[in-house]
Order: sequence, then C-alpha cells, then structure tokens
Amino acid sequence: MRAILCRRLDGPAALTFEEVAEPTPGLDEVTIDVRAAALNFADILMTRGTYQEKPTLPFTPGMELAGRVRAVGADVAGFELGERVLAVVDHGAFAEVAKARAVDVVPIGDAVADDVAAGFPIAYGTAHGALAWRAGLRAGETLLVHGAAGGVGLTAVEVGVAMGARVIATARGAERLELARRRGAAATIDTASEDVRARVLALTENRGVDVCFDPVGGELGEISLRCLAWEGRYLVIGFAAGDLPTIKANRLLVKNVAAIGFYWGGYRRRDPARLAAGLTTLLGWYAEGRLHPHVSRRFPLAEAAAALAQLEQRRSTGKVVLDVG
Ligand SMILES: NC(=O)c1ccc[n+]([C@@H]2O[C@H](COP(=O)([O-])OP(=O)(O)OC[C@H]3O[C@@H](n4cnc5c(N)ncnc54)[C@H](OP(=O)(O)O)[C@@H]3O)[C@@H](O)[C@H]2O)c1
Repeated sequence: MRAILCRRLDGPAALTFEEVAEPTPGLDEVTIDVRAAALNFADILMTRGTYQEKPTLPFTPGMELAGRVRAVGADVAGFELGERVLAVVDHGAFAEVAKARAVDVVPIGDAVADDVAAGFPIAYGTAHGALAWRAGLRAGETLLVHGAAGGVGLTAVEVGVAMGARVIATARGAERLELARRRGAAATIDTASEDVRARVLALTENRGVDVCFDPVGGELGEISLRCLAWEGRYLVIGFAAGDLPTIKANRLLVKNVAAIGFYWGGYRRRDPARLAAGLTTLLGWYAEGRLHPHVSRRFPLAEAAAALAQLEQRRSTGKVVLDVG
C-alpha cells in the first residue's frame, strides 16, 4: 500500500509518499481501507516534533479517517468486513490502509459522507467536550470563540449555538467571519483590524463573556482573560498562534474566574466510553440537521504536504480532507 511518511522532524514539506508494508490487525484491532482522512493542526506539530505525542520515526501522520473495515483481530466482535466506519488513531491515517483499536472505530451507516465522517470526531468532540463537560456552558450564556473559521473553532461556534449560547466569533478577515455567522455566530470580531477586548465589552454591555473557547493562544489568550464576566471560564484548547498565553493568578481571583485545560485525546485512554457517548450525541445532532460540517478543500493523498501547508498558512476554513481510495 501507499502512505505518507515522516522520516525527519522538518515539518510538512519534508513528508514523503511511499510504498510501505500493509498493517495487520492485532487481537483487539481493526484495519480499514481508508477513503478519506482529515487534517488537524496537530499533524503539523507532530511533523515538527512539537506535539505532546511524539511517535518514533519514521511514522505516518493523520489522526482521523473514514473507510471500510478490511480485517478484524481475533478478539474483535461486532464489525462486518466492508462496513462503513470512522476511526481515530494516534497517527497513521494518511495511508491507503490504517490500523485502529476496535474501541476507536465507530460504524456510520449510510447517512454520513466519507469526507464529513473523517473530519467529524476530533473537532466536534473537542468543542462538545470542552463546552459541555469542562466549562458547563448553559443556555443563554455568552460564548467567545477564537479561530472561529478554523477546524475546531468553527465546530465550537456550531456546538455553542446548539447548546443555546449567544456566540461571539473572532477570525481574520470578512470572508472567514461570514462563515462563522452562517454557522450561527450572533456577532463577529476581526482580529486583524479590531480591538478584541473593546468590541467584546461593547457587545456585552461591559459585562464580558461567560465562556471563552481558545484554540489560538498567544496574545489573544491574555486579552481573553480580561474579557471574562464574573464567574467566567477560559478554555485552554490550543496554541495555533505559536505562543503560550501567560495566565496571571490575580485575574482569576478578582472576578472568580476559572482557566480550564481541555485535551480531547486524553480521554481516548482514560475514558473512551465518555468519548463514544459524546460522539453518539453529536452524530444525533448531525442527523437532526443541527450541525453542518464544513469541508473547505480536498486533496489527493499524495498531496498531504500541500494540504497541511494550507492549514499552516491560515488559508483553510473548517476541515481539509485527503481523498484516499
Ligand atoms: N485540546 C484539544 O483537545 C484540541 C483538539 C483539536 C485541536 N486543538 C488545537 O487547536 C488549535 C487549532 O487546531 P485546528 O485543527 O482547528 O487548526 P486550524 O483549522 O488550522 O485552525 C486554527 C485557526 O487559528 C487561527 N490562527 C491564529 N493565529 C494563527 C497562526 N499563527 N497560525 C495558524 N493559525 C492561526 C486561524 O484563524 P485566523 O487566520 O482567522 O486567525 C485558524 O483558522 C491547534 O493548536 C490544535 O492543536 C486542540
């Protein structure tokens, strides 16, 4: 089979496309004929060795995919060969055949297209887990979402709206903000041209926001802590800007504010049942027409490096997907 390989930690440009041995399933594993694999910002970090998970070289990147069950391990029950599934893996999705733990494989029936299914679990799972489980977002609260045209940010807009929040979205440029509005944002702030804190205060009658979902970090993170209302919650999701925001403890004290970390991948080993229940909820919302996954670009598997460059250069919106098969 053919796969994308990371042989040295020099970023997406150093990735190669090669013929490699096909994986075989272990006792509790499944192999999948991949039809689509979705990109995540974490893939870029992994190819540079700066992500929290550091696979041994050489490795195939890619953390989420959709396809057909090819083979199952001896201890695996409940899957038909050829059945349509989505799966999450530590890495290895950018390949014609991928191997996953059976517990990370979910049947999808005929209702979800391959490209939508491939990009569904991580972005929606992160938005939902962070907002529902960690921040306890309530209907009627105000939610500030940064990077709101990106993979995880756009889903946080939709999930926030589905949970009954009033969403304020930030992104760079009118076109990207318009996408967030189409997904339900009530107000938008252009980070390239507007003063984020002043606009948040103007939009909330000086009260601030109840929850901030921040996959961008850096300076925006520090500004966000000053945009929170009494008993506000700041969700640390990621650092697409590159820098880690500094959290000054006095900011937490004065307004009874909480800074809360959230790492979706951490639940894969600690509490997979919770992730599965969350995914069932989200697929239910999708079936009811409450979520509208946005796939902005599709690339052939061989062009994974160019696809990742789109993400790195902030030229993509929603999810970017590799067509495999
Ligand atoms: N905690 C978790 O479990 C979890 C799960 C998924 C993702 N994440 C993290 O969340 C972050 C976003 O991931 P993603 O897959 O949604 O990525 P993405 O699709 O590339 O979105 C990132 C967004 O951040 C904004 N951004 C601001 N400064 C940037 C910069 N210097 N470089 C690139 N983008 C910048 C961009 O929007 P504008 O250009 O409009 O500003 C972009 O849309 C990453 O740090 C990722 O590791 C965390």
